[in-house]
Amino acid sequence: MKHFPHLFSSARLGKVELKNRIIFGPHGTTLGHDGKVTDELVAYHEARARGGAGLTILESATVHKTYAYPKQFIYLGSDDCIAGISKLVKACHQHNCKVFGQLFHAGRAVRISTDGSQSVAWAPSEIPDERYRIVPRVMPNAMIYEIIEAYAEAALRLQKAGCDGVEVLAGMGYLVSQFMNPLSNKRDDEFGGSFENRLRFLAEILCRIRAKVGAEFVIGVRVSGDELDGLGLDAAAMLRICKALDEKPLVDYFNVIASSSATPFGWIRVFPPMEVEPLYAAPFAKEIKKNVGKPVILGGRINQPHEAESIIAEEVADFCAMVRPFIADPEFAIKAETGHSEDIRACVACNQACVGHRLAHFPISCIQHPESGRETIYGELIQAEYTKKVMVVGAGPAGMKAAIVAANRGHIVEIFEKSAQLGGSVLLAQQLPGREEFGGVASNLAHELQNTTATVHLNQEVTVQSINEFAADVVIFASGSVPRKAELDLDEKTDIVYAHDVLKYNAKTANSVVIADWRCDWIGLGVAEKLALEGCRVRLAVNGLVAGEQIQSIVRDAWIAKLNQLGVDIIPFARLFGSVEKTVFFQHTTSNEAIVLEGVDTLVVAHGYTSNTHLQDAMDGDKVETISIGDCIQPRSVEEAVLEGLKAGVSV
Ligand SMILES: Cc1cc2nc3c(=O)[nH]c(=O)nc-3n(C[C@H](O)[C@H](O)[C@H](O)COP(=O)(O)O)c2cc1C
Ligand code: SF4
Repeated sequence: MKHFPHLFSSARLGKVELKNRIIFGPHGTTLGHDGKVTDELVAYHEARARGGAGLTILESATVHKTYAYPKQFIYLGSDDCIAGISKLVKACHQHNCKVFGQLFHAGRAVRISTDGSQSVAWAPSEIPDERYRIVPRVMPNAMIYEIIEAYAEAALRLQKAGCDGVEVLAGMGYLVSQFMNPLSNKRDDEFGGSFENRLRFLAEILCRIRAKVGAEFVIGVRVSGDELDGLGLDAAAMLRICKALDEKPLVDYFNVIASSSATPFGWIRVFPPMEVEPLYAAPFAKEIKKNVGKPVILGGRINQPHEAESIIAEEVADFCAMVRPFIADPEFAIKAETGHSEDIRACVACNQACVGHRLAHFPISCIQHPESGRETIYGELIQAEYTKKVMVVGAGPAGMKAAIVAANRGHIVEIFEKSAQLGGSVLLAQQLPGREEFGGVASNLAHELQNTTATVHLNQEVTVQSINEFAADVVIFASGSVPRKAELDLDEKTDIVYAHDVLKYNAKTANSVVIADWRCDWIGLGVAEKLALEGCRVRLAVNGLVAGEQIQSIVRDAWIAKLNQLGVDIIPFARLFGSVEKTVFFQHTTSNEAIVLEGVDTLVVAHGYTSNTHLQDAMDGDKVETISIGDCIQPRSVEEAVLEGLKAGVSV
């Protein structure tokens, strides 16, 4: 029986035949160096090509020096880029996976820099957006023609490197869309004013590319079906643009998403976290598909093969572009095709190690699959030379990953968990409002563990005696952390509960609640949302610049949006100082001035976690080889836990 017959049918994009409808979508990886493709980037793409993608679209690459690019981005402005791209293309072609490039200029949307200093932002007109808040310099007419030519030259370099096609990033509020948008383009030359004039920049780019690369090479556009933010192009404007491009005809396909870099609302949807519903861009793709003759690609939160199958079967789009699903599981496509969909490690849209790393200018990875972006080190699991007896203490994310890797390398592994369930801290994290999907981290690891030879013991507390009796060659401690009870000078008449108890045991709070959030991570935000949803009046006092300061910015901003809707007051820079009955005192951390919050029925204290080291401490001096991983070294996030699990599993 053929699995997902629509998804795994071949189809053409322009003159190129793809073996299936699955595309590894365009995304910045920060795996480049000095503007060029590295061996790490080659290995990263080859892993997804081997994993069954029919096409990979490379990351947005800079075409012209007026968009200053950091060194880890790909720069197509000189022939130096060709050799690296060529290596990548050959690696993917070996697996019958086609390769397209993506051409990019950010226009006014410039915050990054090559050396720490602020570069000049160029745009069609002197109109800033809401995220970058830079009044851009107006592009002179001659510069516009120079940039158009640079797009064409860049496309030619991709062709010389062996790519099968190219797409122009014409959405998300970046330069091309700034030209098309009457709110950001007030020019009075041939590039501004009428619809045709505003479209001219893109139309000229596409014509010049075609002139350079000939008729066979595929040319597409990536558009935002709607920029969704009131400042950008809406669905009607975008549809008109797509129809015009289709009629000429200037493109071979439309790659549709829905987002913009111009406002926080639009930006959240560039990297949609779990708060954004799956397939959120589907209505826009469907409408465009109805109105154009060329194939349409849909991207954004297509997480499962059955979802992708229905998109094709129901003619919402002709192809599906998936990014994070492939970061989390490079074998996404091949598992679906061979009837092993249940083994797919589904992305949970947490944005931590992929988007989080990218926006911090580090190579991207995945919290569930730290091998991602590290293929040159961990791409191949090497069998152990000698089989060892390995005992893993604790079956949270760190322990499970260590057990999986060690068992897959041929060791005899037994993993012990004192509670009745696998998952550790993830089991609590998934209880935060709207974070159920995060539980996938635990269930995916548990499923992988089940597929190994490791033996799992639940409801078993490990002691020094049981460790000695087990007589392991190596003991891996992954015993996690416990809530930190900070010493506080608080009035005993103040009603106080701990955030952890509110989440885990539903500890009672009264109506007017103040949360003293010291860590500024998920817990403070989650407890605030939970209590506000339950009808409490909530004030969230955070010991930082902003609520959620420690967590990935897209996830944080999406969460702040929810708290804003629920009427939660956020008080920044607040250090918990003391209390007298229903009055709680904070100090402003920048001035030490008092912040007095009155009428507090319950004070909820969120003071982080501390490592659980009692077994390691008791074992001190024993001869058995031990390794500690995850929160029991220091409480951090699932990302570090799983990465350290991988490293431990590889090292034993
Ligand atoms: C780390 C990262 C970098 C991205 N960079 C780009 C990019 O360079 N060009 C682009 O068109 N989209 C970019 N995107 C957006 C993705 O192409 C895609 O639309 C988005 O991730 C939603 O799809 P997904 O749910 O399949 O991940 C990026 C996404 C991620 C996660
Ligand atoms: S880090 Fe999170 S969002 Fe990114 S690919 Fe992995 S699971 Fe998905």
